[in-house]
Amino acid sequence: MQLVHSISALRSALAGQHAAFVPTMGALHDGHISLMNAARTHADTVVASIFVNRLQFGPNEDFDRYPRTLAADCERLAAAGVSVVFAPAEDELYPEAQTFHVEPPAIASQLEGEFRPGHFRGVATVVLKLFNIVQPQVALFGKKDYQQLAILRSMARQLALPFPIIGVDTLRDSDGLALSSRNRYLSVAERQQAPQLYRTLCALRDAIHGGASDFAGLEREASASLDATGWKSDYIAIRRRADLAVPTTGERELVILAASRLGNTRLIDNIEL
Ligand code: PAJ
Repeated sequence: MQLVHSISALRSALAGQHAAFVPTMGALHDGHISLMNAARTHADTVVASIFVNRLQFGPNEDFDRYPRTLAADCERLAAAGVSVVFAPAEDELYPEAQTFHVEPPAIASQLEGEFRPGHFRGVATVVLKLFNIVQPQVALFGKKDYQQLAILRSMARQLALPFPIIGVDTLRDSDGLALSSRNRYLSVAERQQAPQLYRTLCALRDAIHGGASDFAGLEREASASLDATGWKSDYIAIRRRADLAVPTTGERELVILAASRLGNTRLIDNIEL
């Protein structure tokens, strides 16, 4: 496995290769590794990037605190059969102030975007830039960040990107908690309580499958019952899968998305119906 830090070294490493690309911010866990495994089924060469992208963090978010574990990440990526790791320093990717941005559509200011203004603009901008650098044959993203995946898919369509974007299922611990680099901030007691978020989503799914159709009422009840046990929920939202719009009655292709805080740790999760 080659570790490269510059765009020119990446271009030489990839010359003539058809690569599957998995962008990450590092602090890798088994969820990220499942993306690498999926990537290997799409191309012989897998490229992972590791870059903690300042543009997508708000002023009060955890950019400085975000875990940086490059050596351990590289070991895991080598073991997963990744060929090239691109880990640029900040001034390699942003040698001058990034004054051009990819402005995502209105859906980017709902759900996560309501609580993280500018987040998806920062994500879309860095991802398009990484795409231009890597020029992959295919790119893979986790469904764990469902809204991110939906926004990047629509960017790919509307900007005519010449390769497919593949969504990979969320990897969970045996108790249902979605793997996330932020899980490490949970105390022992919070870690025990954390799977409640996924259980709440499963219960909502079952209620809808059982015929419940007052979506707004279901959302309110679910977030009230979480908050009664110590969570602080930002949203629980039943949306249309394709574009994350509020569904009309009778719609079947749904996804339930949630963000809730346990102590100081904000967890997100979702489930497709
Ligand atoms: P990061 O949070 O490091 O996630 C990298 C990729 O791993 C994303 O596509 C994310 O959805 C996926 N992922 C995270 N946890 C997962 C899990 N439990 N199961 C499956 N996939 C999982 O998402 C980002 O970085 C950044 O926004 C990025 C796209 C790299 C742009 O900076």
